Amino acid sequence: MIAVNLWNRWKVLDLMSAKPAPTSVEIHSLIQHRWSPLSFRPEPLTKLQIIQICEAARWAPSSYNDQPWSFLLAPRDDQAAFEKLLGCLMEANQSWAKNCGLLVLAVARTTLKKTGKPNKFGLHDTGMATFSMMLQAEALGLRAHAMGGFNAVHARAMYAIPENCELASVIAFGHPGDASNLPDDLRTRDASSRERQPLSQMAFIGKFGEPFPLP
Ligand SMILES: Cc1cc2nc3c(=O)[nH]c(=O)nc-3n(C[C@H](O)[C@H](O)[C@H](O)COP(=O)(O)O)c2cc1C
Repeated sequence: MIAVNLWNRWKVLDLMSAKPAPTSVEIHSLIQHRWSPLSFRPEPLTKLQIIQICEAARWAPSSYNDQPWSFLLAPRDDQAAFEKLLGCLMEANQSWAKNCGLLVLAVARTTLKKTGKPNKFGLHDTGMATFSMMLQAEALGLRAHAMGGFNAVHARAMYAIPENCELASVIAFGHPGDASNLPDDLRTRDASSRERQPLSQMAFIGKFGEPFPLP
């Protein structure tokens, strides 16, 4: 029953703002359909959705199971929290992210919890946790859009983030919106085709740069 409801919700989402990746072979539809829209309906997420998104991050893999990630949450219905994080974004990102339901600042600890020694996988593992959040959002009928365009110096000071942490990204989560309501420049960007380098430039065998033979 739950599976049917989820599937229906997902089909509605798909019709509203579909931009499936033109893949070379079949992949999981959750991955194929995830994309980074600029259009969100200005509605909050439920508390449960927010917790589900965080729980998905919690179960990401990490080097030594060190779990170097942490997240500062700014839900839309907490106006002060939302505006605080929105204000850290570059203006170009604020212009569309202002409509999302939840902003999340992802923070990566760069030292190991147990020993205090440097952990070169801090950012890597936080990125994996972040992507788990994005896929969970997708599975809930929401969308997510990551951003590097924010003022990290300002955000570090605002949130009193310790020195052994790096500010990894800010992610906007929200309900898919109607792109026809976007201003012209954003609508054009939002409608642009999804581009990727071919597999031959990223899947190698034997030696770096030697393409894995494809059928
Ligand atoms: C670390 C990171 C930083 C990004 N920074 C921005 C940003 O500042 N503004 C923006 O509009 N999109 C940003 N993006 C989104 C990318 O532009 C987007 O993921 C990429 O173009 C691929 O499109 P897709 O996610 O729809 O497949 C960022 C994505 C990542 C992972």
